[in-house]
Amino acid sequence: MNILVTGGAGYIGSHTCVVLLEAGHEVIVADNLCNSKAETIDKVEQITNKKMVFYPIDVTDEEAVERIFADHKIDGVIHFAGLKAVAESVEKPLEYYYNNTVSTMVLAKACQRHGVEKFIFSSSATVYGENEVPFVETMDLLPAANPYGETKAISERILMDTAKANSKFSVSLLRYFNPVGAHESGFIGEEPTGIPNNLMPYVTQVAKGKLEKLQVFGNDYPTPDGTGVRDYIHVMDLAEGHVASLDRLTPGVHIYNLGTGQGISVLQLVKAFEEVNGVRVPYEIMGRRPGDIAESYADVSKAEKELNWKAKRGIKEMVRDAWRFESQLPAAQK
Ligand code: NAD
Ligand code: UD1
Repeated sequence: MNILVTGGAGYIGSHTCVVLLEAGHEVIVADNLCNSKAETIDKVEQITNKKMVFYPIDVTDEEAVERIFADHKIDGVIHFAGLKAVAESVEKPLEYYYNNTVSTMVLAKACQRHGVEKFIFSSSATVYGENEVPFVETMDLLPAANPYGETKAISERILMDTAKANSKFSVSLLRYFNPVGAHESGFIGEEPTGIPNNLMPYVTQVAKGKLEKLQVFGNDYPTPDGTGVRDYIHVMDLAEGHVASLDRLTPGVHIYNLGTGQGISVLQLVKAFEEVNGVRVPYEIMGRRPGDIAESYADVSKAEKELNWKAKRGIKEMVRDAWRFESQLPAAQK
């Protein structure tokens, strides 16, 4: 199939391009490079020894998107493009609402005009808010704690209503838990700009000596060791989940949690990182981070049953591959 991948130069998008190309699909990437580099496209091509078509465009630009659909017979869209920094979304709500919801509408409209029936959307576990764990797809969504989370819930609703009005439209809403790690080659991975907000990139930069020590946000949560528990998923498992979902997409809306189903605490992750990689990660315990929840992990039975997909890689592979990627980056980078 010819698959349009928006945000394909980004972290999750680039890994998914690898899996799509290896599965024999043709890939067209649209990315404005606001949080990524064009060289990632070259690296994906080197890993797979296959070519992609790259459009350096903004997917909120209706005319630019129309040109892609006019140039190629698109069979499906995987929409990763979006802004994702939670704290920034509180400071710049309009940028987040505009970018993340208008892009979804522009792409859905182009699909309608061109009879493209398959649409896969990057949603987030953040839409569950403070529901009871494990999070199940049938739960009512709670208001998100920040504009970023709201943009995901709104985009989900836009796509649900579009599918209601068009019986052939096939939508997959993939709710990612906490993607970490990198391609096994160490060639592509997560490269946050500035000081990382998320745990794993922070840990890798402490291990490398770029940052002095990790601040552990709270050890008084009702969890086994008091630190926050999350469902970390290897980015390659996540990428494979997209291709499984694409292969089995049928008309209507299908919601899937993509996680491992296993909760890991901050201190468990740090310990695994130190043991597997033979490096030290100094840390100090701090107060809780505002907006954080104690635990987040998925019920993954629906994806297993309906997509025949299951995360294969565990925490050891996640910390090993995250470190391999960080280790090969030039020290001056970032
Ligand atoms: P990323 O920032 O690495 O990738 C997003 C890509 O989209 C970037 O390459 C960026 O340049 C591009 N982009 C943003 N706005 C664009 C626009 N208007 N037009 C064209 N390109 C645009 O982020 P990621 O971690 O790969 O996340 C991909 C998607 O998954 C996002 O929608 C994100 O919200 C969602 N998600 C991510 C996580 C996570 O922890 N990484 C968790 C849940 C959901
Ligand atoms: C964050 C986002 C969430 C988003 C998710 C995946 C916030 C409030 N939430 O969630 O919306 O969907 O990323 O991108 O930003 N931690 C530390 N020290 C650090 C960093 C994190 O102790 O320096 C802890 C956190 O308190 C948490 C765990 O590590 O318990 C994971 O944090 P993080 O990687 O930021 O992910 P989430 O909080 O799940």
